[in-house]
Amino acid sequence: MADDIGFFELNTGAKMPSFGLGTWQASPGLVGDAVAAAIKAGYRHIDCAPVYGNEKEIGLVLKKLFEDGVVKREELWITSKLASTDHAPEDVPDALDRTLRDLQLDYVDLYLIHGPVRMKKDSVGSGPENLIQPDIPATWRAMETLYDSCKARAIGVSNFATKKLSDLLDVARVPPAVNQVECHPSWQQAKLRSFCKSKGVHLSGYSPLGSPGTTFIKGDVLKNPILLGVAEKLGKTPAQIALRWGLQMGHSVLPKSTNEARIKENLDVFGWSIPEDLFAKFSEIEQERLFDGTIFVHDTFGPYRSVDELWDGEI
Ligand code: A2P
Repeated sequence: MADDIGFFELNTGAKMPSFGLGTWQASPGLVGDAVAAAIKAGYRHIDCAPVYGNEKEIGLVLKKLFEDGVVKREELWITSKLASTDHAPEDVPDALDRTLRDLQLDYVDLYLIHGPVRMKKDSVGSGPENLIQPDIPATWRAMETLYDSCKARAIGVSNFATKKLSDLLDVARVPPAVNQVECHPSWQQAKLRSFCKSKGVHLSGYSPLGSPGTTFIKGDVLKNPILLGVAEKLGKTPAQIALRWGLQMGHSVLPKSTNEARIKENLDVFGWSIPEDLFAKFSEIEQERLFDGTIFVHDTFGPYRSVDELWDGEI
């Protein structure tokens, strides 16, 4: 699958496959087959998180694929994330160990703080009464220890807006390698993108298709007329255009699908490109953050009183 943008080099020197399978909202019972289909189709990067509730099933499938000789561990890039309930520095190593047990791996290629949001340990659900003040520098020091141990070969963050990332860079001994955030043609992350670039932090895009069908997310990225026009001109599907746009912008893309035909369709974004004149049209697309994180905002609980505070005004 690799062409000129098959990989992005991280500040650790590692080459991360630019295209990965997202597993958020990939239901248990479906996710295993999706991971198997994706790897057989040529995917080499799987994006996981314990909060998605499906790492055990992914682990079973990975084990079988290794045993059957379909792929080797070292050919894969596996990302997972530290849950908001595990931010206490003493809980961080156990959280990674649990994920490694579930995924049946010795190491992850990338481990991210899932968000600048902390919840009480062992709290169930995302009720606002569980929100507490994060201490990102302390959590990050524990992440750095995991990096030193090589159980996490790269470390980074997710859902950090520019100021929060900048504050972390000010105190980090090991700078974050990646910031994984919502990114698609209707939320291009202009400010964060240029900040990440200036600091050597790779921006990775979740919801690269705008997560169609997800009820709490607004808008329909794949129906944008500019995107549809480009798709028609190039004879590609809207999803392929959204993904190829992301790669050409310089960020990795993590489309989720549990449907084998769409898993294959989505990977067909190499070996062709969006020409410059059509690519320029994407700058005209109206911008809207789809995942606004209101569930992490509360006027009594937690540190964020508004979505503006959560996203450092990037809303
Ligand atoms: P499905 O799993 O049934 O394929 P995102 O990666 O932006 O979060 O989007 C994921 C959503 O997009 C899922 O609902 C997924 O459904 C759907 N999807 C994945 N690939 C495509 C595609 N090629 N065309 C349309 N919808 C897609």
